[in-house]
Amino acid sequence: MTSTASALLAPNPTQIDSIKSYLDGVSDDLLALLPSAEQLSSDGRRGIIARYSAVLEGNFIYWMTGAYIAAKSEEARAIIMENLHEEVRDSHPEMLRRFEIAANALPAEADVQAVYPNLSKVRLFIGKLSPAPIVTMMAFFEGFIQRFMPYLEELAEKQGSTEREYTQVHGVCDITHSQELFHALESEMALSPDSREPADYLYEGVHLLRALIETMFVEQSCAAA
Ligand SMILES: [Fe+2]
Repeated sequence: MTSTASALLAPNPTQIDSIKSYLDGVSDDLLALLPSAEQLSSDGRRGIIARYSAVLEGNFIYWMTGAYIAAKSEEARAIIMENLHEEVRDSHPEMLRRFEIAANALPAEADVQAVYPNLSKVRLFIGKLSPAPIVTMMAFFEGFIQRFMPYLEELAEKQGSTEREYTQVHGVCDITHSQELFHALESEMALSPDSREPADYLYEGVHLLRALIETMFVEQSCAAA
């Protein structure tokens, strides 16, 4: 990282800022799609929690592991490992499972089927192990979920749940995770000039994940209409 060659390849701060601002815009667009928790039927609220759970419970650690395998820079690998360590040590999948159970929103077959096509696309994208695009997707996701947590918590409360550990943990720690992942991205981009190819390359995972997140919301919009 201190060699002249690496320094020459390092992305400038403006480039990282413009990536952040693009990703914030994607989150803004997704959050604007959320139907009011008040207006949803109980079944609509249950469906959003269940589809979110069908995606996240079994996949987040897998996605982050893909980022770890793909990353080449020591800094990015250390940041990603810290995140994985926390996920496993504190058993975030178990935390999410308790949240689902408390809200009576365990995924049913229809929930799993609803997210399956777009979930498959994200899984296959992870399998390509493209370092900067995966880290970009994870940085986007960490930023998105900390903004999504108050809404998820509200849905669960309206379903009669008082379980808040998952939403509280992810509403706070993911602010830091997101910032750290931007440092990881900076390191990966410095090592890989290809990551400054057209936006289609860098944002491939973000766009696939955006479509998957939309599936979590859109299904219940139809039911509520
Ligand atoms: Fe987590």
